[in-house]
Amino acid sequence: MNLLSDILIIGGGIVGLSLAIELKLRGANVTVLTRDFQQAAAHAAAGMLAPQAEQLPPSPMLDLCLRSRALYPDWTSKLEQITGTPTGFWPCGILSPAYDIQSRASNISSEQKVSGKFPVSIWLDKEAIHQHQPGLSSEVVGGWWYPEDGQVDNRALAITLWAAAQQLGINICEGVNVEEIQTQNKQVIGVKTSAGDWQAQQYVLATGAWSNQLLSVPVYPKKGQMLSVRVPLPSLESPLSPEGKECFFLSPSLTTEKVSSFSSLPLTVGQERRLPLKQVLFGSEIYIVPRRDGRIIIGASSEDVGFAPYNTTGGIQALLARAIRLYPELQHFPIQELWWGFRPTTPDELPILGGSAYDNLTLATGHYRNGILLAPITAFLIADVILEQKHDPLLNHFHYSRFSNT
Ligand code: GLY
Repeated sequence: MNLLSDILIIGGGIVGLSLAIELKLRGANVTVLTRDFQQAAAHAAAGMLAPQAEQLPPSPMLDLCLRSRALYPDWTSKLEQITGTPTGFWPCGILSPAYDIQSRASNISSEQKVSGKFPVSIWLDKEAIHQHQPGLSSEVVGGWWYPEDGQVDNRALAITLWAAAQQLGINICEGVNVEEIQTQNKQVIGVKTSAGDWQAQQYVLATGAWSNQLLSVPVYPKKGQMLSVRVPLPSLESPLSPEGKECFFLSPSLTTEKVSSFSSLPLTVGQERRLPLKQVLFGSEIYIVPRRDGRIIIGASSEDVGFAPYNTTGGIQALLARAIRLYPELQHFPIQELWWGFRPTTPDELPILGGSAYDNLTLATGHYRNGILLAPITAFLIADVILEQKHDPLLNHFHYSRFSNT
């Protein structure tokens, strides 16, 4: 028997690690069990912080997302201070170009109307949007500009979270497969794993798309295929350069060394990478996320295919066609990488947060398209629940019991 933490978190993705760090900073003794850090949805995401661009309707979900977005500057800066490593947080704004003049419905909730705290959204007409972002398709007739949306480099964030957890003395056990959550009456009494049995006073389920393999919760995978290209340097990189050969690889065997080998490509004077995009483009069924180091992430498909692995030709073809239609210059950019991941989806596409059928098991799963965005608010609100029995009223909307009659 592996004893004993105050709190045992099952799942070492972005949600599990963010929560572990918050709990540890508040004085708890925390253990994280994770099967495979590289498999977590955090690695597969694009890192958009996009409650407005995602067009969430006025709702508790929009409120939750806006609160989380507001936490990002301080949260990432705290993590960077702990570790000395970057997260790539970039409040660059998101531009949402349109091919048709759409209704201009705004996604402002009643709570924000009462408080007067409106998130900023600005409609740009055709001339204004092409001025704002040169190089857009001539089909673009206008679009929304969301200056408060932004992005974080999800892989850098995942690495930083991992480093912070280790530095803070959180016990992270990687390669451990949790096989069963053992219960008696309304209590979890332990977990059975590939590395023996574990016990704690409190348990958290944060296993994303894999959650219903351990507990009867309606969470299932929605596959997303993605790719990245990079902005060509004026003359440095030919397709046959050694870096070019090494940079084409598939997930989930991705290693951080390979990622950084690209980020640290040597630049000589006069060969600075030109960044034609300095904001995220969020179009119809496509997003284009430029990183400051010259990578551009393009995503994502949304497929009900279970855990079927691999990129498909059709999936990548559709992404490329939509991306090139929106920003034609992309057709000249070399492809760097293809990958896929699994979003943890629920029937209403909202996360499952808070209590469970067991008194000492808390749920933090089902974040669907917004796991990166919702990591800090999830960590803060769930830490409040576990350590202080404090329930933010917003959590009522995300309780698992909403599925009881389905
Ligand atoms: N957050 C974007 C996606 O899930 O594709």
